Amino acid sequence: MIVGTGHSVPARVLTNADLEKIVDTSNEWIVERTGIRERHIKEPGEKTSDFCYNAAVEALGEAGIAPQDLDLIIIGTVSGDMPTPSTAIFVQARLGALNAAALDVSAACSGFLYALSLADGLMAAGRYRRILVIGAECLSIMTNWEDRNTCVLFGDGAGAVVLAPSDGKHGVLSTYLGADGRLAELLWCPGGGSLFPASHETVDKKMHSLKMAGREVFLHAVKAMGESAERALAAANLKASDIDLLITHQANQRIIDATAKRLNLPKEKVYVNIDRFGNTSSASIPIALNEARRTGRLKPGMICLLVTFGGGFTWGSAAVQF
Ligand code: UT7
Repeated sequence: MIVGTGHSVPARVLTNADLEKIVDTSNEWIVERTGIRERHIKEPGEKTSDFCYNAAVEALGEAGIAPQDLDLIIIGTVSGDMPTPSTAIFVQARLGALNAAALDVSAACSGFLYALSLADGLMAAGRYRRILVIGAECLSIMTNWEDRNTCVLFGDGAGAVVLAPSDGKHGVLSTYLGADGRLAELLWCPGGGSLFPASHETVDKKMHSLKMAGREVFLHAVKAMGESAERALAAANLKASDIDLLITHQANQRIIDATAKRLNLPKEKVYVNIDRFGNTSSASIPIALNEARRTGRLKPGMICLLVTFGGGFTWGSAAVQF
């Protein structure tokens, strides 16, 4: 069960008005097509593990669990501090969680739900008893600030949850994960790996930036998120009407609305913070989860449905009772 949550974002805010000065865009277009008004972007020198650490401290504090009592740390991220070691390693060291194994999971915007599902499975197998799961991203490091198709979308930040064995009444009720690797090219950052190692040429060609076929990604996201939501509900033997709060990946207000419509959920049962954070990739669900709990939208006993979609393509869902 989830016994603590936390989140952290950079202090610096980039508004749509700021973006109007950088690329040929407008506040009206961004708000109408995405729902985003502002996003948090890291300063030079700030790093992904900083936001992970802050989010973890808040989540562990609420859980009343000391870092040295953690036995595993999993971070969903594709924009960590450096290619190796993992960002989880830096978080482990800074927390002093020296009894915990630590690893990153790469599943783009689905990173948090992939990590949560892995953690839940390991917990159910009895292998681990205190797991810190984080979704964290600084996509601003792989943003082409000359490309209006993508640079208006993303924000930086991290969200964390602490898992402990269920008390039998509360916990993760079901999870579902999916992927279709044939569609990788529709949303990827091609440079910097073994295929196109970093070189002057890859930098000149902006191959270290995200490239996205927005319209195609949109259509796949609507379909996959609707289907994922239904899978997690069916696996937990729930109906859509049993859901108290829907928290989807915050990629686009129109995708959130389409998923809510498919489940026939009213606005009051749908958590939205894309207007203030933009698309924070794997961080978006745990940031929203923490806000929903802190503001009283998500109360003990409530059932929450988490649904995501991201590059890969990857997608997934989880039904959780708080
Ligand atoms: O997080 C992982 C998953 N990611 C997603 O789920 C993102 C999914 N995709 C989307 O959210 C949307 O496709 C976008 C928000 C990225 C784009 O919205 P759209 O309604 O699909 O627009 P579009 O890409 O079809 O572009 C429509 C027009 C184009 O102009 P023309 O060709 O019709 O003249 C674009 O050049 O809007 C133009 N455009 C912009 N105009 C002003 C694209 N970006 C901008 C912009 N400002 N920032």
